[in-house]
Amino acid sequence: MFPLPQKESRAPTACPGLASAQDLDSNHGDGLERECSRKPERKLPEFSGVGDAPATVPSDSAYLSSRGSVIKWFWDSAEEGYRTYHMDEYDEEKNPSGIINMGTSENKLCFDLLSSRLSQSDMLRVEPSLLQYPDWRGHLFLREEVARFLSFYCKSPAPLKPENVVVLNGCASVFSALATVLCEVGEAFLIPAPYYGAITQHIYLYGGIRLVCVYLDSEATGLDTRPFQLSVEKLEMALQRANSEGVKVKGLILINPQNPLGDVYSPGELRDYLEFAKRHELHVMVDEVYMLSVFEESAGYHSVLSLEGLPDPQRTHVMWAASKDFGMSGLRFGTLYTENRDVATAVASLCRYHGLSGLVQHQMAQLLRDQDWISQVYLPANHARLKAAHTYVAGELRALGIPFLSGGAGFFLWIDLRKAPPTLQYLPEPTFKEEMLLWRRFLDNKVLLSCGKAFECKEPGWFRLVFSDQAHRLCLGMQRVRWVLEGKPQVPEDSPSYQSQEPGGQCR
Ligand SMILES: Cc1ncc(COP(=O)(O)O)c(C=O)c1O
Repeated sequence: MFPLPQKESRAPTACPGLASAQDLDSNHGDGLERECSRKPERKLPEFSGVGDAPATVPSDSAYLSSRGSVIKWFWDSAEEGYRTYHMDEYDEEKNPSGIINMGTSENKLCFDLLSSRLSQSDMLRVEPSLLQYPDWRGHLFLREEVARFLSFYCKSPAPLKPENVVVLNGCASVFSALATVLCEVGEAFLIPAPYYGAITQHIYLYGGIRLVCVYLDSEATGLDTRPFQLSVEKLEMALQRANSEGVKVKGLILINPQNPLGDVYSPGELRDYLEFAKRHELHVMVDEVYMLSVFEESAGYHSVLSLEGLPDPQRTHVMWAASKDFGMSGLRFGTLYTENRDVATAVASLCRYHGLSGLVQHQMAQLLRDQDWISQVYLPANHARLKAAHTYVAGELRALGIPFLSGGAGFFLWIDLRKAPPTLQYLPEPTFKEEMLLWRRFLDNKVLLSCGKAFECKEPGWFRLVFSDQAHRLCLGMQRVRWVLEGKPQVPEDSPSYQSQEPGGQCR
């Protein structure tokens, strides 16, 4: 059970995170995510139903407000894996027995290309306007480039408009700002689960907005044609359930391509979900942060901005960032596209706190403008490398007999460790406690993965494994995964060097 805090503070008006009958143990997960890092014995009070606030939240600081305590709680309870990783990061020469990170969704395959493009002379400009307070929506020169870039790569039927663009420091900020301007404290968004778990924090920490999960099953049932399939019927049921429990739902979040499933919605599905939202006057936040990381042509990805005639353009808000598609999660660039002027203006007003430096705005504009480099150099290389890394890891998993899902987009495989082939050790029982113990065995053996609970997956035993890394780290990471599953403990002090080996090579 959760240890009783020395001092307890009243929760703010809304409860942290999820608006559903479940414990808060799952409200973590972040770019890394920080997801599976809770100590198993730590547990927060349970909600008694959708919309109930917990009576208390822990506070071990005499200095923080109740709101500050909840915010700190998110950090404390969700950071263990991430902290452990940063204290002991793998380095081929300096720390070969350090932790291999297969948990953070980052693309580490194209640093060579990015560093050479970002080092060119057109990237550095220092002029007064770039050092002074900007237009908080983003400099016009950048918003024009963003509009052109999105029109081209999203295949919009008509050119997108710079006045509908707002530029922020990453998609996390877009979520945070959008949720704050669209909802009252305590209102909620529907989200299909499993989902990228850090959204819980993005929308809660400032805005006090919550999530209602639309739980998806690994078994395709009824009219489903694939595992974890979303349908309008499931959306309707989740909405009704929330309404019946007194939770006011203001919108729907769609992630396309999806994280952690790696699949994409067809144009027909997208339209159905948007029509559902229109019927109920719900806003839709569409997160397309992986839109250019579709490495299988057959995935058939379509941006929502490619649809002719959006059902409810005033309530459809699209976000994209450079974090994933350009492998630049540390640069902090994100953008919102919305035809709703009130929404754009309100979000722009928050950009005072979420803006980008003028120098970075210049760099981003130069990068997005360079369509030749993007289309002819960067994307083909990036997709080929993603595909090679994916093929290697998929082959390793097949050799181990581990089932997985992957839709040809994103940086991860959604792997099913529920059932063990006879020779391997996975979950002795189908519980989240066992899932956590397995996650910890991975970490103890120096490989960081993300467990399904961090994505609000309702079935224990699913893990997300990120493959978008250099060959030598992938090989070593997969070797450690295998050791854990085969029950061979301990990373040797002198791990072998895998630098020369390519995915698909000898390193199995
Ligand atoms: C689906 C999704 N949206 C948003 C983000 C956060 O993006 P950013 O780094 O631009 O804040 C992530 C990061 O993992 C993500 O996976």
